[in-house]
Amino acid sequence: MNEKVLKQGRLISKPGVRQGPDQTSGTVSPRDRFALLYELGCAFAARIELQELLPLVVNKCREVLNAEGISILLLDPDRNELYFPYVSQSDPAIVERLRNLRFPADKGIAGAALNDAVAIRVTDAQGDYRHYHGVDRATGFTTRDLLAVPLITRQGKIGVIEAVNSRGPNRFSEDDLAFFEALAGSIAVAIENARLYTQVRDAEASLQKRLGVLRRDLARSDAFGKIIGATAAMREVFRLMESAAASSIPVLIEGETGTGKEMVARGIHLASARADGPFIAINCASLPESLLESELFGHRRGAFTGAVRDNPGLFRAANGGVIFLDEISDMPMSMQAKLLRVLEEEEVVAVGDTFARKVDVRVLSATNRDLKTEVERGNFRQDLYYRVAVFPIRLPPLRDRREDIPMLASHFLNTAAQRQNKHIVGFAPETLDILCGYQWPGNVRELRNEIERAVALARDEELITPNHLTPTLEQSRVKKPSICASSDTSEAQSELPAAATGDSLPLEHPQSGPESLRKARAAFEARHIAEALRQNQSNVSRTAQALGLSRAALQKKMKAYHLR
Ligand SMILES: Nc1ncnc2c1ncn2[C@@H]1O[C@H](COP(=O)(O)OP(=O)(O)O)[C@@H](O)[C@H]1O
Ligand SMILES: [Mg+2]
Repeated sequence: MNEKVLKQGRLISKPGVRQGPDQTSGTVSPRDRFALLYELGCAFAARIELQELLPLVVNKCREVLNAEGISILLLDPDRNELYFPYVSQSDPAIVERLRNLRFPADKGIAGAALNDAVAIRVTDAQGDYRHYHGVDRATGFTTRDLLAVPLITRQGKIGVIEAVNSRGPNRFSEDDLAFFEALAGSIAVAIENARLYTQVRDAEASLQKRLGVLRRDLARSDAFGKIIGATAAMREVFRLMESAAASSIPVLIEGETGTGKEMVARGIHLASARADGPFIAINCASLPESLLESELFGHRRGAFTGAVRDNPGLFRAANGGVIFLDEISDMPMSMQAKLLRVLEEEEVVAVGDTFARKVDVRVLSATNRDLKTEVERGNFRQDLYYRVAVFPIRLPPLRDRREDIPMLASHFLNTAAQRQNKHIVGFAPETLDILCGYQWPGNVRELRNEIERAVALARDEELITPNHLTPTLEQSRVKKPSICASSDTSEAQSELPAAATGDSLPLEHPQSGPESLRKARAAFEARHIAEALRQNQSNVSRTAQALGLSRAALQKKMKAYHLR
């Protein structure tokens, strides 16, 4: 059986040449072929990826055609070359060589099948003038007989599939070719679909990425924007928040009560890729030990008295998002051990359950005590400390950033007045003196509450005077406050000049007469511009636009107020 090209071109059954089914390459029964067709049909119907589809096609075709090898060659239309998108070889050197092998699309028997869009059966490849020896050289394989079938979709020709060297007693038959050709039609469509699927998925991934960046920018101006602070210490907090938002590592937010720890946690969540996921806050100090475990990890119905229905627990409810463990230093020791396990294994076991469930939750925690000291005192597990405190953010107490007080006070005045439907003119200068001089043990929250109370007491069109404040504020005032002047020594390291933060601007208040009013207005304007600059990352054009000024006018003012 050493005949030359036995058959070229589309299968035309010549009654005399056609072999009987018992001779179809010897070993594979029509039943097996139907089974294969069914299996491949199922695989093609599933939205499968090319990397999964090609090995499946190759292995199944090899099995059913009883071939030594199956090659898929795809057409690179830009270069009009054929290449091997998938190589089923165990020898890595051959895999590498074939991966890098490309040849002109009109070369070889594959090229002929592709060019003429016909299925070709060759029984003596070495004797065929079209045979391309480059592939044999690369693989060290000798092609004896082969079937080459073009892969054609509605878009046109996309490549060729080849069966090389029949392992049966005979060479590949006409029936083998007919079967392979029938199969190639659906293989081509499946490859095309898989490529389209990959394209769509890649396009979606890149859109998602862009969306993520846009959302982060938006959230940053939104979520971070609500957090007021222009001092160097607060700018450092914003910088850390940005880094924290860009990753999924656990963050520990430390600071006295009312310094804005929860605001910071929410800001990080909103600016992170998990923004669409839930944010679930739990105060570890507020729940008894017995309830904390089932609150966090859930329980099965009947796990304990009162457990009348299944409860998934907060960790599972926060899946895909963030769990905020407030006052984590108050977590009982037994719970700390369980939390550690959850963080390490990324799975939770509900109370009364025997198996664990995977959870994908980012943990942000907060504490108003020094957690490190709690570790030293033996109140907090060291291993858990290293887990939750990977990225610490420390919020300064308000008394250490008094320069932010006027800005915070005006903000709270505006929101309270709006809520209470009042028009409040502003603060009397002595009021601001008192606010800036007070120690604020309850920090920003206390300041907010104080202003809300004052707005409630004040009448429409009034100034907030010391009479509207809680008397203790005045009494516990620190000696001679250098009204909100900078106590911040880290200015030199910050990227903004000191004046631009507003920190070193003297806050002047009208005493009497037109001169002091002018000064007060100037002080206000300087501060306002400094804040606008901060919000616009010191970009002069954007700040000018935001303030409704020309660039030149803004620069003039910046010069006048030493904001550069
Ligand atoms: N930097 C800030 N800017 C604006 N408001 C703030 C700021 N920090 C705190 N607040 C106010 O104080 C309240 C308490 O903040 P919160 O985040 O709950 O503090 P903590 O969790 O540290 O006790 C907030 O609801 C908010 O109104
Ligand atoms: Mg809090």
